Amino acid sequence: MALPDGFLDEIKARIRLSDLVGRTVALRRQGREFAGLSPFKKERTPSFFVNDEKGFYHCFSSQKNGDAVNWLQETQGLSFMEAVETLAAEAGLAMPAPDPEAARKDERRKELAEWNELAQQYFARELNGPRGSEARAYLERRGLSPRDWENFGLGYAPEMRTGLKDFLINKGAKPDELVTAGLLIAPEDGGAAFDRFRGRVMFPIHDPRGRLVAFGGRALSKDARAKYLNSPETPLFHKSHVLYRYPQARTAASDPKSGIRGLIVAEGYMDVIALNRAGLVHAVAPLGTALTEDQIRLLWRAGPEPVICLDGDSAGQRAAGLAAERALPMLEPGKTLRFVFLPDGQDPDDVLKAKGAETLRALVNDTRSLADLVWDREFAAEPLADPDRRAGFRRRLRALTSKIADPDVREEYKAEFDRRLASAFGRKPARAPWRGRQDASGISDGPPVAETRKLAQARRAPPAVRHLLLAAIEWPELAVSEAETLAELDCGPLDSLRDAILDACSTGQIADHEMLRNSLVRQGHHPVLRKLEAERAPMRASMGGEDADPSSRLNAWRKAAASYMERVEEERIRGEARLLESEALARGDAAEVHQLIAGYKASRRRR
Ligand code: UTP
Ligand code: MN
Repeated sequence: MALPDGFLDEIKARIRLSDLVGRTVALRRQGREFAGLSPFKKERTPSFFVNDEKGFYHCFSSQKNGDAVNWLQETQGLSFMEAVETLAAEAGLAMPAPDPEAARKDERRKELAEWNELAQQYFARELNGPRGSEARAYLERRGLSPRDWENFGLGYAPEMRTGLKDFLINKGAKPDELVTAGLLIAPEDGGAAFDRFRGRVMFPIHDPRGRLVAFGGRALSKDARAKYLNSPETPLFHKSHVLYRYPQARTAASDPKSGIRGLIVAEGYMDVIALNRAGLVHAVAPLGTALTEDQIRLLWRAGPEPVICLDGDSAGQRAAGLAAERALPMLEPGKTLRFVFLPDGQDPDDVLKAKGAETLRALVNDTRSLADLVWDREFAAEPLADPDRRAGFRRRLRALTSKIADPDVREEYKAEFDRRLASAFGRKPARAPWRGRQDASGISDGPPVAETRKLAQARRAPPAVRHLLLAAIEWPELAVSEAETLAELDCGPLDSLRDAILDACSTGQIADHEMLRNSLVRQGHHPVLRKLEAERAPMRASMGGEDADPSSRLNAWRKAAASYMERVEEERIRGEARLLESEALARGDAAEVHQLIAGYKASRRRR
């Protein structure tokens, strides 16, 4: 919609920029301007200025500047039109309607949203009232406190045929409007309309501008027709354009100090709430469907790298694949998707309950790239033992990359997959060997020279050390509880791997083997790991066998560590003794030689 001439000026004339900016930035008057600390960059001395006369702000440390509209776009992640609408509302100006028809539609949508607002009040009241006891017990069982109900606007639709209807008619609504709003169902036979949501916990759903456009209802009873029921498509609600809690998440992500690179996309309402409770307030969810293109666009408006967070089960894998395929044609430089698979088929809600907020945060931070996801999916689709299947694999990858519309991104993906193919199937790089090899998981491990050196080192370290380190990687809880021993362990050429394990575990972010391994791989330890992992079976045997319980495994590890350290110590003493001996001999002092040998023998006996 084009804005009429002068409309923006009219808005700007009515809004004092320093008031608008002053809501989030502390400003001090300085002559004709206001000064404050940059909202875009950390700083100690103010380099951010607001000039009300010109209606402009300027930030000298980040070089950002603009007017009131830009300010809202920049700090709240609004689109241009959304920013204009917000400001117009604040200035008491009606948005110009392009034509009377559109104006009427707009007006009707506004009314529908208002009925939704009232419905939410009704649902909230019912949740807290006498009919809400079962719903309250349900929410509490799922770990939600009354404060959470309030925060997330939860409510309850009682098991009544016309509870909401009566309430809203009383407030002046007409049944038709409520049917249009999706709150009532009109029976086919022309009978009286009745409440759509009955016996359900209610989740309010807002559109990107923050209007309450729909509800999701979770059935309390196990034999309800559907576990989740949403509002139908209405003039106000188009499921495929909306993400649950998008406006709130976008606001959180638009704070430049948050460091958020993109929203987290979970599967369901309860997952979004769980993520919120773990402090990840930039979480959203689609409404029971796969991600649509519109939703991906919404995500990118809030940050360049949204993270799709799914169960690791087959449904989650499938959903990730769908999201990836949908996103590929839309990729642009810097705009991508990342992926997290939660372990053991758990969703964020399960993880929060079973393992706590810290683990959930750690898991969600450990993301994988879109290229990795595509490669792994196709790689795992079928065994690639013969050339025919490898050719199929190659072709599938090529088909996927060719979906990418942006030429630069497409070239990069193609080059990346070519490198991986060459490395996975053993074709020697014809030129440029310094580019580094890539393993099947696609993670570059540095130039080949370093790789050969690391591999040779892995071979040279004694078996005991190799097993101790491998066990610490396999069961990171060992690395954590035995960190002190590990730190003292002389690992020779594997010292740097040992240090990397200790570093990773000291962050408290390592939840399981997979995460620790990924972190080591990222630091370039992949060749060594691969070498070590060939010894997994003997290592496991030496740690008490396949089914050892954690405590006997711990004992086995401690014993192995102790005996290795003892051997190292003996070696050292023997070496020292030999040194002294030869020095004494060189001096020709026979008595001293005898004494040294006796002392050395005694020390051996003591040990
Ligand atoms: P599920 O049916 O898998 O829910 O739908 P769930 O996570 O197991 O549900 P809980 O944890 O027992 O409550 C996944 C999500 O898809 C959305 C809901 O948010 C749901 O949590 N959904 C599903 C809808 O929005 N509408 C639907 O019709 C179905
Ligand atoms: Mn669930």
